Amino acid sequence: MKRDALFSKLKEFGLTTQKVYMDEAFSRNIGLLTEEEQEKLANAKVAIPGMGGVGGVHLITLIRTGVGKFHLADFDTYEPANINRQFGARVPDFGRPKLDVMVEQALSINPYLEINEFPEGINEANMDDFLGGVEVVLDGLDFFNFDTRRLLFNRAREKGTYVITAGPLGFSSAMLIFSPHEGMGFDEYFDIHDVMPDEEKYLSFATGLAPKATHIKYMDFSRVDFSSRAGPSSSIACQLCSAMAATEAVRILLKRKRIKSVPYYYQFDPYTQEYRKGYLFFGNRNPIQRAKMFYVKTFLLEKKKELFPMPPELPKVKVTEKTVPGDVVRYIIKAGIQAPSGDNAQPWKFSWQGNTISLYLNREADYSFFNIKQLASIISCGAAIENMRLAATAFGLEGRIAYLPDAKNDNLMASMELCVRGGKKDPLCNSIWNRHTNRKLYDKKPIPESILGHLASRVSDIPGAKLHLVTDESDLKKIAKMVYKVDRIRTEHRPLHEHLCKMIRFTDREAQEKRDGLPLKNLEAGLAGEVFLRMTRPWWVMNLVNTSGLGRMVALHSYQAILNSSAAALLTVRGMETQDFLRGGQALERVWLTMTQKGLSMQPMTAITLFWLRCQLEGDRAFSEDHRGLLQETFEEYQELFPDVNFHEEGQIMLFRMGRGGPIKQCTYRKDLEAFLRDEGKKDNEIWDTQNPF
Ligand SMILES: Cc1cc2nc3c(=O)[nH]c(=O)nc-3n(C[C@H](O)[C@H](O)[C@H](O)COP(=O)(O)O)c2cc1C
Repeated sequence: MKRDALFSKLKEFGLTTQKVYMDEAFSRNIGLLTEEEQEKLANAKVAIPGMGGVGGVHLITLIRTGVGKFHLADFDTYEPANINRQFGARVPDFGRPKLDVMVEQALSINPYLEINEFPEGINEANMDDFLGGVEVVLDGLDFFNFDTRRLLFNRAREKGTYVITAGPLGFSSAMLIFSPHEGMGFDEYFDIHDVMPDEEKYLSFATGLAPKATHIKYMDFSRVDFSSRAGPSSSIACQLCSAMAATEAVRILLKRKRIKSVPYYYQFDPYTQEYRKGYLFFGNRNPIQRAKMFYVKTFLLEKKKELFPMPPELPKVKVTEKTVPGDVVRYIIKAGIQAPSGDNAQPWKFSWQGNTISLYLNREADYSFFNIKQLASIISCGAAIENMRLAATAFGLEGRIAYLPDAKNDNLMASMELCVRGGKKDPLCNSIWNRHTNRKLYDKKPIPESILGHLASRVSDIPGAKLHLVTDESDLKKIAKMVYKVDRIRTEHRPLHEHLCKMIRFTDREAQEKRDGLPLKNLEAGLAGEVFLRMTRPWWVMNLVNTSGLGRMVALHSYQAILNSSAAALLTVRGMETQDFLRGGQALERVWLTMTQKGLSMQPMTAITLFWLRCQLEGDRAFSEDHRGLLQETFEEYQELFPDVNFHEEGQIMLFRMGRGGPIKQCTYRKDLEAFLRDEGKKDNEIWDTQNPF
């Protein structure tokens, strides 16, 4: 409703002036506030940066308390993942700017409000305007928005403005008050230095915000994801934050007594039924705080960093102009590089010109027996395209894809034009940096039908792509037997064995230096398995082991892995052309990211599909007589299991297993962006034309 319409509505109730409305609307505050204080609040100006979980409720709470003037900032839009806690998040408003929605909500409560809007968010350039004439700031910034928070708090202190921060931690609220006149400043209290890695800044902020940390007793910290800058959050905590922060704001605005600024701290946790408050001598420089931070940094953060390297810093820009900044393009390409690829070969190259990114297939990266006609690499390129398309949405960009745009260059897989569209960020973006292959045994509990249905619908967004799910235990056993047979071939076929050994990084140093291939621990083979893999590196040893029958242990491991899964699935596409496999790779990445988002693990089991493709495209002459027999048996069972698939006309993208697996020991690495930039001076055939042995 527009303001005029709101005023007309008030008139219907006989509320014809601001004074008459204010007296009536806020009459029930009287007794806690006096009439004079109520008037003072109506003329008070409060700033709230961030209209999310806490910022949105801060605003509504203060309006209902009678505050009349606001400076509000937010550049984000609502998305489904906001529903659990953000005041303005409602289905009809998905994709709408948070600021617009909250201003509408605010005016519908008090149409006489004065609101200054900062739709670009707050930054160095507008900070003075944002703080102009403001008496109190209620911090509604995201936990991970550290640098902006630091700028805001320090500038507010210079300008004589109070800042209150209340953080929703678990089911609790932890609050600090920063006074411009007394106590400690932001940098001093949190012990912040200019050159500090992001994770240390977050750690300092979290430890200083809640020195007693009541929430750590019950919160699952494995769900805190630095990479996507997200963690567990609750509406209960957001409401508490507002109750605590707004009470202090009223105290400050009305110059009432007992304002206790940092190093005083407060945490109210209804879940543990505790109210903790105290005085933290020296802030984070307090020796106990230092010891806590040392422990977390040394034993927890370093371990996690080793497992999942931090994603690149998200450039803090929303692209509105015609030319997309280089930082944004680089970020989008890095998202592409994060895609999965057979043996982590990373078979791609990139270039960009203006707003268009080109993705090339790098044939040289993988000339293995498995990579028949480069199909596995083409699937990986498809996955990289999907990652880039998704990452672009984080900047309000739409990636318009042209497949195989140059008939004269069959290495050029696709070009993606980045167009300013201003739409919402795709929630799958967050999973790009923590999607991974999990080769552990999974728990066998069935996956809820609703999740399976969601996965299938994710795939069907790509025309012609289809997910064929296998959940029945006896069918899973059939797949396990098939995988056992083809995995036997894997160990008994010399080129396959030698290629796998070439791609395993047997030491940490080798893994970190080469930054491709499979770190030994990533294979989750256990100690005995690792010794086995090391010992059987030379073909003659493996051959000997095969002759004794011991080689089948590897295939047995794959058999067990399928049985210890909740489900398996075959992803297919309509045709068998390059473009179909690219689209298939996109569908694969989409379903893999969705599984990551839902906390599901997955492992590709591609020997069957890739052997099938080889036999179909090149015949079976590369296999021994024995192996041909095994393959024939397997293919017959395989076709029986998926009667809906037309194996001669539909492209098989991937067979995989899924379920809930424990955390993996070691992730794979990626080379730096520079390693993938195409040398524009050379022709493709000069760069990549080496002989394919297969
Ligand atoms: C086309 C393709 C085939 C793959 N085949 C297998 C496979 O047969 N077995 C397996 O364990 N992983 C397989 N993978 C997973 C890759 O090894 C993995 O994506 C790569 O090492 C990168 O690691 P990440 O997925 O953890 O990021 C395959 C991946 C792709 C894209």
